[in-house]
This record gives sequence, structure tokens and C-alpha cells, in this order.
Amino acid sequence: MGGTVLVTGGAGYIGSHTAKALAESGHTPVVFDNLSSGHRQAVRWGPFVHGDVRDGRALRQAIEAHSVTGVIHFAGLIEVGRSMTRPDLFYEHNVTGVAVMLAALADCGVGRLVFSSSAAVYGDGAGPGVAAIPEDAPKAPASVYGDTKLWGERMIAAHGRAFGLTAVALRYFNAAGADPGGLIGEAHDPETHLIPLAINAGLGRGKPLTVFGRDFPTPDGSCLRDYIHVSDLARAHVAALAAPMQAGEFQALNVGTGQGRSVLEVIAAVDRALGTPTPHSIGPRRDGDPPSLVADPALIGRRLDWAPRDSSLDHIIETAAAWARNPKFGAGAEGQSA
Ligand SMILES: NC(=O)c1ccc[n+]([C@@H]2O[C@H](COP(=O)([O-])OP(=O)(O)OC[C@H]3O[C@@H](n4cnc5c(N)ncnc54)[C@H](O)[C@@H]3O)[C@@H](O)[C@H]2O)c1
Repeated sequence: MGGTVLVTGGAGYIGSHTAKALAESGHTPVVFDNLSSGHRQAVRWGPFVHGDVRDGRALRQAIEAHSVTGVIHFAGLIEVGRSMTRPDLFYEHNVTGVAVMLAALADCGVGRLVFSSSAAVYGDGAGPGVAAIPEDAPKAPASVYGDTKLWGERMIAAHGRAFGLTAVALRYFNAAGADPGGLIGEAHDPETHLIPLAINAGLGRGKPLTVFGRDFPTPDGSCLRDYIHVSDLARAHVAALAAPMQAGEFQALNVGTGQGRSVLEVIAAVDRALGTPTPHSIGPRRDGDPPSLVADPALIGRRLDWAPRDSSLDHIIETAAAWARNPKFGAGAEGQSA
């Protein structure tokens, strides 16, 4: 137990929850972030270094100054739609950023890495009629964003084989919810994720929600996704750092519940949490939206000392709604959100 962990992108949504989980498990999280989309107020559980992951010198300085023994790499750009119009930025931050980070790890002798990957590496999922996606499903990213995550994984695996870096890539499905302590939560700008958009619509902020398609081959016709509470996701990173692995081993693991929830089920849960009907309308399908993206979570249960415990849909939505309602920190606060 213990040790100092560099958390790149640790001022962001998942990184800030992971910094808290690291501190709770006896580690010191050092957040390294350029604050391009993160929030300084979300750095609460250890030192902060303002830096960019494309700057190898700054990374080496931070690693040496804090005697870092492991790195969790969240830093990167996340909006799938924007990745199609600005592939240049996505390859630079998400792929060059990983290459520079890996060189810094080798220079400084850091032997342990956990990487934020994504279900986007699978593209359209496991195929029609297949319920859940295992790690060895075909990799066919449908976006530049997904492609950058797959390149990141490949670079890390090759680097590990060559230099003895031990690494886990966690392929998140849909991260959602907020820490129940109320100090940190999801505050992306622009927000593109269903749950905060539905809550904001229910609270009368922003636009009514559009459900993109009710004619999918799913039980209620809307898309199915696998929602994992951000606190469960944060604990998966701590477990991945501690997983017994051989030097140079690379392991990719899905992080999900294995249970698909439809857009209409999410809206019904938001109705329950807020006590009012969520204004929404049904629109056409969006290009490239697969009907179902649900993890097969069997492997992570075998490889890590981890299982989801906070990921019931109602708990996810209650914690996200509490965060959004918090006038000091929630989504309605100007410049205060974390
Ligand atoms: N949110 C999800 O559901 C989800 C799903 C799959 C994968 N991921 C991945 O998880 C990671 C974190 O996602 P998030 O939702 O917390 O996003 P976020 O935008 O809240 O956090 C990303 C953080 O990285 C920082 N950053 C970006 N570029 C940087 C750079 N060049 N140098 C230093 N810092 C930089 C930002 O300032 C921000 O604090 C990302 O890599 C994302 O691709 C997220």
C-alpha cells in the first residue's frame, strides 16, 4: 500500500474521483494537468502540477520532484464528435501525449502505468444479436477518438515489452454519477453525456432532451449503454495499480457492469430522482450510434480485486442529481464546478 502516483488529467471528472480513491487507499496522488478542461478546485487530495503531457521535461521534473512510483494517465481530449472535425488535436494530445509520457516513464524508471482507454476501441460493438463485448472482440473504432485510444494501447503494450513497463488499459464504458461527498462531479463543457444532459433538462436548465432514435432493435427501441458509477471506476484504477502482474505485461480490461440500460430507462430514473417528468422529444438516429454497447466484465473480476458496488442506475442518478443541484459546485454554478 502507499506510494506516490502521478495522475495526469487528475483535475478532470474521472481523474479527480480517482485521486480521492488513491488518497483513501493510502497513496499520495500528484495531479499533473494543463487545466484545458479540468478544474483547479477538483484537486483536493494531493499536490498539483500545472503542466502538459506533451512536455516531457515537465513530466520528468514532476516525477522526480515527487518520487513517483506509478502513473495513471487520464489526460486527453474526450469529445467524440469534435475528434472527427479536429483529428489533428486528438492525435496530438491523445497519441503524441502518450508517446511523450512513455518516454518520461522510461527515463525516470517508473515501471507501472494505468491508462484510460474506452469502449470506443470496439466501434459498433460485438455485432448484431451479441449482448456483451469481451476484450478480444474486434477492434474497429468508429471515430478518431476511438482510434487514438487504440493507438495509445498499442504503444503502451509495445513499450512495455521493450522496456519492462507493466500496464493496464481500462476500457471504460459510460462513466456517470458523482462522489456522494458533494465536492466533485461531472462538469464537462460542452456536456455531451446523457445523464447530466437529462438532469439539466429536468432541472429546467439548458435544452429539452432529444432521444436519438426509438427504432433500434432493443427492448424499448432506444439505445442501450453500460453505466458505471465514477466511484467504482476510480476504485478500479487503484486495484489495477496493485494487480499482481509480470514485468512488461500489458492487460486491457473492460470496466462496466455487464448490464445495458436504455435511454428511456435513464429518463425514467431521472424522473424518479427529480420528482418531475424530464422534458424530452424523440428525434432521428444519429450517425454512428450503435444500438448496444455493453461490457462483458468477466475478465476484470478475475484479474483485479474489484467489483462494482455503487453502480445501480438509481444511485448513479441520485448522486449526479445531488451534484447538479449543489449551488456552489454543481452544473449551474459559473466557474465553480469541478
Ligand atoms: N467520461 C467517460 O465516460 C469516458 C469514457 C471512456 C474513456 N474516458 C477517458 O477517460 C479520461 C478522462 O475523461 P474525463 O471524462 O474525466 O475527461 P475530462 O475532460 O474531465 O478530464 C481530462 C483531463 O485531462 C486534462 N488534459 C487534457 N489534455 C491535456 C494535456 N495535453 N496535458 C495535461 N492535461 C490535459 C484536462 O484539463 C482534464 O482535466 C480521458 O482520457 C477519456 O478519454 C472517459
